[in-house]
Amino acid sequence: DKGQHQHFMAKEIHEQPMVVARAFGAWTSNDRSRIASPAETIDWRSVPRLTIVACGTAHLAGHVAKIWLERIARLPVEIEIASEFRYREPPLPTGGVTLVISQSGETADTLGALRYARAAGQTTLGLVNVTTSTIAREADLALATHAGPEIGVASTKAFTAQLMGLAAFSVMVARERGAIDADGERDAIETLSRVPRLMAETIAQEDRFAALAREIATATSALFLGRGLMYPIALEGALKLKEITYIHAEGYAAGEIKHGPIALVDEATPVIALLPSGDLLEKSLSNIREVAARKGRVAVIGDAEARAELGDEAWRSVAMPRCDPLIQPFAYAVAIQLLAYHAAVARGTDVDQPRNLAKSVTVE
Ligand code: F6R
Repeated sequence: DKGQHQHFMAKEIHEQPMVVARAFGAWTSNDRSRIASPAETIDWRSVPRLTIVACGTAHLAGHVAKIWLERIARLPVEIEIASEFRYREPPLPTGGVTLVISQSGETADTLGALRYARAAGQTTLGLVNVTTSTIAREADLALATHAGPEIGVASTKAFTAQLMGLAAFSVMVARERGAIDADGERDAIETLSRVPRLMAETIAQEDRFAALAREIATATSALFLGRGLMYPIALEGALKLKEITYIHAEGYAAGEIKHGPIALVDEATPVIALLPSGDLLEKSLSNIREVAARKGRVAVIGDAEARAELGDEAWRSVAMPRCDPLIQPFAYAVAIQLLAYHAAVARGTDVDQPRNLAKSVTVE
């Protein structure tokens, strides 16, 4: 049932504050002092490396998690696309852990990757939304995302619920490795508790995203740029846009565009810049200024600081709430979802059932 919404995707975007609140509750103790996880039983101090494997949007959630785990837990992490990983058959470290991420828990390549990692002696974790799925059964430990059933083919709430599970997981691993103390854990939990409201504040900007989306909807090509935690969100923005609008879109690390992609910049190509404030803002601004100087149509999605810096160098800009860097991916994920959704509505595509795509990819 779509409720008052025109599409399941819209309903699922709007459900996200509730979904992430539920996921947050599932991962935290009642007094909010401690992350609880079945993966606590692993001796994380002796784990040399975590390998994360997934496909599509789930892979991009894993990419965000890599950055969190490296930063908070100081754990070495590799992130892999399942279809490459499983056939490359890479050597895996003794005592290593492999985490596969899958909404459906049935994606053939991700399942193949899980089986390869198990056979190679890794401890395996499966973060799944469908808890009765094959991946949930075959992983040594199954972790649930708690998103509820996702109907829209383009993943939205499953992605942000994966992010909540992965953020909690990162904090737990940091604690187990001694990278944070009890106060640090409590602070991180307090920050994560603000995610539902942060996402609701972003959804409250929907009209602004819809207005920008209508302008992007006439483009034949679009670029998404971001650094650090915004790099995987830029990739997800491009994936979401191409998936449901059929506009050609690419995501790039902002610092990489001068190595080639800047040749694509012209007056017809929207360049969506994800610019939260933080350590990387100055670096990103200089990349974005290079685009603006070449008459690129820069659409800034950022908080007050970035928007003030760019002024009229930006073609369009949409305000984002300011928040702790740890939780920026949740807010910017909502932003790119709303952008893709409204661009698809403007183009009149079949939002919930995009051409050539299936909800669960059980072929290799
Ligand atoms: C994109 C999307 C896909 C899936 C991918 C993996 O919106 O939904 O990229 O994320 O096919 O599916 P799961 O998570 O079921 O393994």
